Amino acid sequence: MEAQVSVVPPATVEQSPVNARSCIRMKDSPAPQGARDERPVAASGAAAEHPKRSDDATAGGAKLRETETTIGSRPPAVRRVSGAKRRIRLPGARNEREIGKNDPMHPDTWLISQGRPTELGDPLNFQPTMASNFRLPGERYYNRTEGTETSGALEQLIGGLEGGRSLAFSTGMAAVATVFGALPVGSTLAIPEDPYHATNGLAVEGEEQGRWTVLRLDLADTDAWISAAGTADLLWVETPANPLMTVADLPAICAAPRKQGCIVAVDGTFATPLVQKPLALGADISMHSATKFIGGHSDLMAGVLTVTDDTIYDDLWNRRVRNGTTIGGLEAFLAIRGARTLALRMERSMANAGILAERLEGHSQIARVRYPGLASHDTHDHAAKFMDGFGAMMSLEVEGTGERASAVVEHTQIINNATSLGGIESTWERRALIPGQETMPPTLIRFSVGCENVDDLWADITAALDATG
Ligand SMILES: Cc1ncc(COP(=O)(O)O)c(C=O)c1O
Repeated sequence: MEAQVSVVPPATVEQSPVNARSCIRMKDSPAPQGARDERPVAASGAAAEHPKRSDDATAGGAKLRETETTIGSRPPAVRRVSGAKRRIRLPGARNEREIGKNDPMHPDTWLISQGRPTELGDPLNFQPTMASNFRLPGERYYNRTEGTETSGALEQLIGGLEGGRSLAFSTGMAAVATVFGALPVGSTLAIPEDPYHATNGLAVEGEEQGRWTVLRLDLADTDAWISAAGTADLLWVETPANPLMTVADLPAICAAPRKQGCIVAVDGTFATPLVQKPLALGADISMHSATKFIGGHSDLMAGVLTVTDDTIYDDLWNRRVRNGTTIGGLEAFLAIRGARTLALRMERSMANAGILAERLEGHSQIARVRYPGLASHDTHDHAAKFMDGFGAMMSLEVEGTGERASAVVEHTQIINNATSLGGIESTWERRALIPGQETMPPTLIRFSVGCENVDDLWADITAALDATG
């Protein structure tokens, strides 16, 4: 049942006709009726059948003409060398064993068992491939183009979990920017009113440059998103939202009738691919900052995009090559190492988060807790409808001033006063202190609940509240 490597034609430059489209299919491709694009997809391995190169740093690579677009082209041919030992899905290959589709493997087993070398004598894990280029002829040419076997293993792991094909990036923002970069000039982009602040920065920059019009929508206002699907070219749905924790009604938004070519992309970083399955709900692109829960140890930067549509995959693949945002070998290794325990970590940290959210909600020094698992949460119903659990992120507002909130986060001994999230170790921070987040409620603390003993976390929190009250 192991994933077989696709044997594809030799790596030559194919003079395939230039596709005149200027973006993935946001403008002129068939509109999905209701949910996802239903165009038939190629069989496994077919994704590499048009080996048009988009990088002249690779063997025999012919540089694309300036005017040439790579949309619709395929990733480069990737060929197994006779006798080569490694077996792993290579760029362009499809995960045959998508969770829940072809076999009954559970996601936790998938994360532990897949993305490994399989030959006798192999180590159990792919080693971090530290390489820019590869001896030719071979299955890879240049790291920025095809990645390494380590990044291929990460893509297999996450792609199978999400039910699509993944591309790994150097950071989460590299992944976001790659999707935004596919929007043609004159597009309409719908984003939440309060998205992750760097995502907002990208939207604002493009708006100021006249590249696109931005619709800012209340994430909880499902009707607004459904209506935007009829006019926008990209719906960027960050859910649950950072840091206000609003959960969008993803099934309803994904099922909305769309303008022709409209793409629905979901930043599910806060949920992880275990808790939320955007592609299964009909989204076109699932995005994660793997810096967070997938990596899980606060020691790497990475991003992942996962898609089901080959045309979108190819376009994003080519953009990654051109932008130079392919993940590094060491980061891919660390992300796999982290992902192995994602299910275990999520089980513990979500349980901790549920307990702490309830206790915090009942604490006299806490003015408000935003956690999708609480019945009091404004979009709890959305979360209960389609999420498998409620995640390990929450925001709380302490009674008093912003200074008091700062004192609380500085006081804790176990919970780290640090930005970022998704680590095995708990972190929290006063969000309004982050550049770009000044408009957040002054006493709001964003809390990433880790895997420590919940009673130790609670003692840490109450000691900080007592000491600063
Ligand atoms: C929801 C969300 N999306 C995207 C990003 C960007 O990820 P990265 O920091 O890996 O670039 C972040 C980072 O905090 C995030 O929280």
